[in-house]
Amino acid sequence: MNVRIDNVDLKELDKQYVLHPTTALAAHLDKGPTIAQSAVNCSVKDTDGEERLDAVGGLWCVNAGYGRKELADAMADQAKELGYFHSFSSMSNSPMIRLSERLVNLVGGKMSKVFYGTSGSDCNDSLIKIVWNYNYLRGKPQKQKVISRDYAYHGVSIATASLTGIGAFHRGFGLPLPFVVHTSCPHYYRYGEEGESEEAFCDRMIRDLEELIERESADSIGAMIAEPIMGAGGVIVPPKGYFEKVQKVLQENDILLIADEVICGFGRLGTWFGHHYFGFEPDMIASAKGITSGYFPMSAAFISEDIWQTLLSGSEELGIFAHGYTYSGHPVGAATALANLDILERESLVENAAKVGAYMHQGLQERILTHPHVGEIRGHGLIAAVQLVESKEPKKFYEAADKPAAPVAAAAMNHGLIIRPLPTGDSLAISPPLVITEKEVDFLLDSLLKALDDVY
Ligand SMILES: Cc1ncc(COP(=O)(O)O)c(C=O)c1O
Repeated sequence: MNVRIDNVDLKELDKQYVLHPTTALAAHLDKGPTIAQSAVNCSVKDTDGEERLDAVGGLWCVNAGYGRKELADAMADQAKELGYFHSFSSMSNSPMIRLSERLVNLVGGKMSKVFYGTSGSDCNDSLIKIVWNYNYLRGKPQKQKVISRDYAYHGVSIATASLTGIGAFHRGFGLPLPFVVHTSCPHYYRYGEEGESEEAFCDRMIRDLEELIERESADSIGAMIAEPIMGAGGVIVPPKGYFEKVQKVLQENDILLIADEVICGFGRLGTWFGHHYFGFEPDMIASAKGITSGYFPMSAAFISEDIWQTLLSGSEELGIFAHGYTYSGHPVGAATALANLDILERESLVENAAKVGAYMHQGLQERILTHPHVGEIRGHGLIAAVQLVESKEPKKFYEAADKPAAPVAAAAMNHGLIIRPLPTGDSLAISPPLVITEKEVDFLLDSLLKALDDVY
């Protein structure tokens, strides 16, 4: 077939052949794709020649920014030397080994070993299987259930879509699977009751968790999984002291805590990991996205020394640890991750996330929260959500069917800004590359204001 590769044909070909992930399919056929062509720092250019500030960093992942020659070179050099080898049956490769040492030291706490995959979903999947394997080896095979939270996002595989607490990812798929039990979402602005203090709200969240554990029985629960700041569910920051109290309840009930750091990891909150910011110590950690700034599909699952020792004790009975992917510990991915860590460290991008993040949040408070339909600004560091409401006083949320965030995001595109409407439909996410400057933040705020004005 003789295909003309110009704009029009590519858009038609896309509509003809691509099943797009997380996309409104009929609307896509109607309006067609936007085709990204090139990108540098925080700006993405499409095939129509439009250039926009990507205030979402791809999908919360391009931490080092776009167009990094150093990452391209690391990938090319490694691909030339050893483009692939597996890590089954004790096979190894030098970038994976060096990366593992660096990651375990970076994350600190009680982490001991890293297991690699290629996505946030497979990372969480692996950790759930390790929870089951760990409890089997401890003689507690019935501890199969996993606690997640309403509005959590942990991925889209069969198991992780079940962990995800957003209805759109369940409806029509026969999910969630019954091993998942969901507890309350700790979003004070939305779920706090009239006259309830934030502290009292936090205690109510903890009581909900305790009641769930009692109802389901601690003997049947292996782990709880939680994002330090919930991402796709609305960039929800838990109330002060929440994780400390959650962890205490879990420890009393012999339930492991998995921190899903797929978004928060690698600097977004102005600390290397989200649990560093909140000051709690998970038993297992999921990470992906920012580990390679999205340049190579890679995930890293961390386990504690205690869990490692238990897995090790299974060697005699089970023989192999029978879990792994063709691409686990991919040498090109590991080389990319090492080069990415070099950039984050050398350019102090974690510190930049704290500094420019504070500037961005101040601007959001002063210029966006004052809008009559913005009820709350959430987040910390270089992650934020803008909550749209029907009215602020009295507080009135939009009906689920209204979905006001999509037209604001569409209007922002016309003002040179990419901002993401979240699945709940009434808030917009911001999570730019960590290289964003204060000047770019000013542009972001100007464009967002224009978009809000266009729509309202
Ligand atoms: C917190 C969290 N966990 C897991 C995932 C799933 O990652 P992936 O899309 O790479 O499977 C995501 C994706 O956005 C996420 O935000």
